Amino acid sequence: MFSLPLRDNAHLRPLEVWHADEFAAHLDRAREHIRPWVGSRFITDDVDGARDTLRRYAERQAADGARLYGIWRDGTLVGGVLFVAFDAASGSCEAGCWLEPAAEGDGLVTEACRTLLDWAFTTRGLHRAEWRCRADNARSAAVAERLGMTLEGVQREAWPYEGTRYDKQNWAVLATEWRAR
Ligand SMILES: CC(C)(COP(=O)(O)OP(=O)(O)OC[C@H]1O[C@@H](n2cnc3c(N)ncnc32)[C@H](O)[C@@H]1OP(=O)(O)O)[C@@H](O)C(=O)NCCC(=O)NCCS
Repeated sequence: MFSLPLRDNAHLRPLEVWHADEFAAHLDRAREHIRPWVGSRFITDDVDGARDTLRRYAERQAADGARLYGIWRDGTLVGGVLFVAFDAASGSCEAGCWLEPAAEGDGLVTEACRTLLDWAFTTRGLHRAEWRCRADNARSAAVAERLGMTLEGVQREAWPYEGTRYDKQNWAVLATEWRAR
């Protein structure tokens, strides 16, 4: 199983069905922190729910679609990055991320996303990588910016959450821009 170093003590690895217990324990630490900002399907309450998420991504990866990777720091799963969508035929993908609170502020997600985008652009020859976040999610938008993405537009009131509709930002970087960095 591959394990890519992000820092001395942090690694990026595939997050798979056999991690269900670990993923559920991590979600117990992350759930309320990430709930407002990620898709509601990602928020599960127990090991069965965590396993369902991992199985869903495994099935999509088997079809060369979405993919999920975990970030481990000092041996503990603290978050991850993903291809929310991956479409080789159209040359486009969408990346995403999350962390438990204790792992924020260390550059782990930006570094992990660089690995994903490098693979998408260099190995897979994709043309475009997208990033979508709630417009008031400053930390997520900062990751998109650090990745060299451009804010292409705002979908007004496109993100419903607990009775309020929030604006959604669409960011993207092109392969030509990625290579020029
Ligand atoms: C979005 C989220 C993953 C961003 O986490 P983050 O820690 O801010 O992002 P990074 O891992 O890229 O780290 C960047 C931070 O580490 C700091 N940092 C330290 N060393 C760094 C390095 N070598 N490289 C880059 N940043 C570094 C940066 O200064 C920045 O901190 P600051 O914002 O306080 O200045 C996190 O806030 C989160 O999980 N939020 C809830 C879920 C969510 O919003 N997911 C995205 C849905 S669209």
